[in-house]
Amino acid sequence: MKILAIESSCDETAAAVIGDQAEVLSNVVISQIDIFAAYGGVIPEVAARSHLEAILPVIHKALADANLTKDDIDYIAVTYAPGLLGSLLIGTLTARMLAILWQKPLYGVHHLKSHVYSIWINDPKMASSSQQSLSKSATAEVAINSDQRKLPEFPLLALVISGGHTQIIYMPAHNQFEIIGTTRDDAVGECFDKVAKILGLPYPGGPSIAQCAKHGDPHKYQLPHPKIDGLDFSFSGLKTAVLRAVQADCGLPITTPSHELASHLTDQQKADFAASFQATACDILLEKLEMAFRTHPESRSAIFAGGVSANQVLREKALHGLKNSLKRDLGDTQAAQIGIFFPEPKFSGDNAAMVGVAAYYEILAGVAPVDPYQMNILPRTPIK
Ligand code: KG4
Ligand code: ZN
Repeated sequence: MKILAIESSCDETAAAVIGDQAEVLSNVVISQIDIFAAYGGVIPEVAARSHLEAILPVIHKALADANLTKDDIDYIAVTYAPGLLGSLLIGTLTARMLAILWQKPLYGVHHLKSHVYSIWINDPKMASSSQQSLSKSATAEVAINSDQRKLPEFPLLALVISGGHTQIIYMPAHNQFEIIGTTRDDAVGECFDKVAKILGLPYPGGPSIAQCAKHGDPHKYQLPHPKIDGLDFSFSGLKTAVLRAVQADCGLPITTPSHELASHLTDQQKADFAASFQATACDILLEKLEMAFRTHPESRSAIFAGGVSANQVLREKALHGLKNSLKRDLGDTQAAQIGIFFPEPKFSGDNAAMVGVAAYYEILAGVAPVDPYQMNILPRTPIK
């Protein structure tokens, strides 16, 4: 089976080909980050226009890199929801057109489902080096060899953390999702982006904060954890807390606009704020995930997915702090059996390999394709 997958929900134009063992035969991503760094954020109309220019060359390259032609492709998969309307339209219209012209079955994949399935991507390029590099950096328990790789066991808890979403999803089995926690305001990735702006760090904020925080003290500033009952999140308070702390540290009134603050900060202050914010955001995520294990103690794995899952501090805290907390909550034996999984960092952000692998598991389960003449985009629909 060969699946041509297409992703264009935000500001990455991507295509990939996935093979019989969910392995990546090619993976092409054109990012618009350079365009939007100048504006400090994504402009939907510009994103759609850039997708329009890039999408056919990206698809051609994905086929060429896999050494395949359209005749070798058995299925087409595309992100249909959620995302920016114009961006989703370019991807879905292209996929629908190809499905009709080439007469291939078409699968519409929810973007958060794709992020979840980034964990199941089988990357042959990682097969030889994965065990060694993972143990060296202690970033994840997953190995990515099709024969030896360890895959998550169900039921599991998925923490999906991106620029648009922050959710804890309970998965009893493949293709089954129950949202048990969600953000009531900002997504955690959005919070990274907004705090980066306050500190005068470039877009996208997540990698900039992570980089700047390397020289900072994570204990320098005490930032509050939101008091939200249950498994829901709130991140807008944390962003405001950073704003107020920066104003106070610089001796400025709270009326000082956020865009004026960076010029008052030294590099060391920026690093300390970045490190303190990053540590607090990661702790909040992991506290809720730990709580989710208490409400769903039958869960056998924790998977992290979405752009923020690339964060190295989060990975280290999950493998050490979370594991220790779970030992306290569930006992040594049960906690030891819980697998913790992160995507390879290159598959944390938006890409089409994860779309193809999500479709792969739908096809394996016998899910019927959609009608290419009827497929609709749904910019705001929940995971399914
Ligand atoms: O999944 P993604 O690529 O796109 C969406 O579906 O939203 O996630 C993008 C988000 C951005 O907010 C970005 O700042 C954040 O992921 N991000 C990170 C890191 N790399 C990307 N956040 C924290 N640490 C990182 N290393
Ligand atoms: Zn995404």
